Amino acid sequence: MYVCMCHAVTEDQVKKAIDGGAGTPRQIARGCKAGTDCGSCVRRIQALLGEHGARPCPTARLAAKLGLAEPETPAAPAPEAAPVAPLRAA
Ligand code: FES
Repeated sequence: MYVCMCHAVTEDQVKKAIDGGAGTPRQIARGCKAGTDCGSCVRRIQALLGEHGARPCPTARLAAKLGLAEPETPAAPAPEAAPVAPLRAA
């Protein structure tokens, strides 16, 4: 499966980069350019880094430092929106 569409980088390529010692999205980008164009794949690359034992991203480290745990269960459904009164012509 492709992770980075801009540079046609697959998940396997990213995993190999991680196995080869890459620990940050920037280090992965050095090897295959993933994440260096539109950037929409960077969060997926960060997730792959986390899943494969690399160092967590700075945001995750900061959240851990501040005691803000990542939610482990899916968030509760949002409450239903209040009905909106129709606009009236003056
Ligand atoms: S999808 Fe990876 S840089 Fe655009």
